[in-house]
Amino acid sequence: MLDTEKSSHPAPDSFVAKAHVDAARYEQMYQASVDDPDAFWAKEGKRLDWIEPFTKVKNANFTLGEVSIKWFEDGVLNVAANCIDRHLATRADQTAIIWEPDEPTDPALHITYRELHENVCRFANVLLSQGVMRGDRVVIYMPMIPEAAYAMLACARIGAIHSIVFAGFSPDALANRINDCGAKLVVTADTAPRGGKRTALKSNTDAALLHCSDKVRCLVVKHTGDQISWIDGRDVDVKAMMKTVAPDCPPRPMGAEDPLFILYTSGSTGKPKGVVHSSGGYLAYAAMTHQLTFDYHDGDVFWCSADVGWVTGHSYIVYGPLANGATTLMFEGVPTYPDAGRFWEVCAKHGVNQFYTAPTAIRALMGQGSEWVEKHDLSSLRLLGTVGEPINPEAWEWYNETVGKGRCPIVDTWWQTETGGHMITPLPGAIPTKPGSATKPFFGVQPVLLEPNTGEVIDDTAAEGVLAIADSWPGQMRTVWGDHARFEETYFQQYPGYYFSGDGCRRDADGYYWITGRVDDVLNVSGHRMGTAEVESALVAHKAVAEAAVVGYPHDVKGQGIYAYVTLMNNETPSDELRKDLETWVRTEIGPIAKPDLIQWAPGLPKTRSGKIMRRILRKIAENDYGALGDTSTLADPSVVDDLIENRMNKG
Ligand code: WT7
Repeated sequence: MLDTEKSSHPAPDSFVAKAHVDAARYEQMYQASVDDPDAFWAKEGKRLDWIEPFTKVKNANFTLGEVSIKWFEDGVLNVAANCIDRHLATRADQTAIIWEPDEPTDPALHITYRELHENVCRFANVLLSQGVMRGDRVVIYMPMIPEAAYAMLACARIGAIHSIVFAGFSPDALANRINDCGAKLVVTADTAPRGGKRTALKSNTDAALLHCSDKVRCLVVKHTGDQISWIDGRDVDVKAMMKTVAPDCPPRPMGAEDPLFILYTSGSTGKPKGVVHSSGGYLAYAAMTHQLTFDYHDGDVFWCSADVGWVTGHSYIVYGPLANGATTLMFEGVPTYPDAGRFWEVCAKHGVNQFYTAPTAIRALMGQGSEWVEKHDLSSLRLLGTVGEPINPEAWEWYNETVGKGRCPIVDTWWQTETGGHMITPLPGAIPTKPGSATKPFFGVQPVLLEPNTGEVIDDTAAEGVLAIADSWPGQMRTVWGDHARFEETYFQQYPGYYFSGDGCRRDADGYYWITGRVDDVLNVSGHRMGTAEVESALVAHKAVAEAAVVGYPHDVKGQGIYAYVTLMNNETPSDELRKDLETWVRTEIGPIAKPDLIQWAPGLPKTRSGKIMRRILRKIAENDYGALGDTSTLADPSVVDDLIENRMNKG
């Protein structure tokens, strides 16, 4: 680590010369943003077009029991109008969305702002025809196709609240989310092609809807034309209907604080939380971070390789870029199909200028060898970004040298579903990067390191602690859908007066931040957040399982792998078949991303005398670091540990 702390990479002079923000401007703007947030954000709020201008800027209270976050609260706007209509005068014929299909031999689409406007209006009119009203919830369960963006923006246009469920989630997970937010309607597609395979979204939705109110309607985008079953009266063919409705739909004036979307994310306990984001503050923050972190300039082609099912796709495929009048690329496929050169082929084909992906993808591609990169002309690239987990220096160097040819600044962006946009990130023209560090806070963001046990603020520059944020920023989540108390408990209780991120962090002598990973029971598997409690409850729901404990362990490609200790019912015997069965079970309960990588049969779990599972010990064994188990004197039965070590699954 010390080496990377010293290895500082300034952006090339030619990059700095054109950058929106250079070092001096960063310092001056950052200071202004924390000295007088109202003045700073009043100016930035004007990035958006307001139907009624705001007169109030920040109104935030982090006090437990009174937590309330509002920005631009008396302003009135429409998010879709900001992402589309206001660009029509100057860029109607500019490409808004480039869509690259799963099969490279199928044609890409270039959707102009004019076409986007018409499609979103028609989609909105379809929603209205189905009785969707302002404030209603719409669940979107879609492939990475333009209709996913149309559906999001159509909701925004009429004031409905969307909640996207990643297409990799199972029918059960989908049903839980539909029910939790009380959705009136689900938007889905027949099937979703990805890497040459197809996910049966419509049939998953059919299965989910068996567990939902029979009033829930289902809009189906016939994308592949694959055979699907159909329930007349419930299912609606969106594309057919879009042709019959009016091509225009006035954007509905919405309050800045009206929810724009709900996005479910995993926590350390219980079921996923519905993270609620606002209209005004969220959009202003997504737009500003998109422009400045990626140094986006008019005419650039921007590609974020995330899925719209995650917050990264919301903020940096759809809302941020479109609010800025950008050209945003949407890719249906995966990095390794038809071969490990696909990302770079797409960059070359569409002249991508800024490319944003996850460390897990970089590691996977690095493992395939540099020749896949070298086949393609990457001279259009000007900046590279990463998100989702700490990036290891080897992957950083490979990204920098092999992909960026040493001339593209790398922005390692730390943020969360809850934060709406980047929080700690280099501004590429201003802040020299160090491999593995997210570097410095974005404007208005005040990170603090707290002593984990006492909660005291650590003032030393070089220090390590838990990462919290001292004051609000416009993109901050506003509440947990239907459970404001849970919002307060999760983020404001443990360290009063601060937003607690759940991450550990180190700050070096230069004031650079280095995220060290979650300090709670949340795993980060290939950049996807997974609560250990969720995987455990899926496992114990299986009839053969008496008890289960899930921890993370280091995984070369995924960052963290899922390690499950499973205690079987008395009448069950361990077998490879049962192991396979449990894997399939978790896939169907939650989705493929939750499948345990390693399952160890555990005759017993290490527990304290009061019956609490000692996860620290299980983590150590999973990490193959059982020499350093620490204090085991509080164990009820120390002999279970010997058995677990003896039969550990990760012996490498
Ligand atoms: C968690 C949030 C925000 C979009 C993707 C994930 C980890 C995120 C970084 C980074 C180190 C990172 C943190 C965070 N994380 N970005 N650049 N360096 N860790 O969103 O699913 O809400 O997960 O991802 O642990 O808390 P998410």
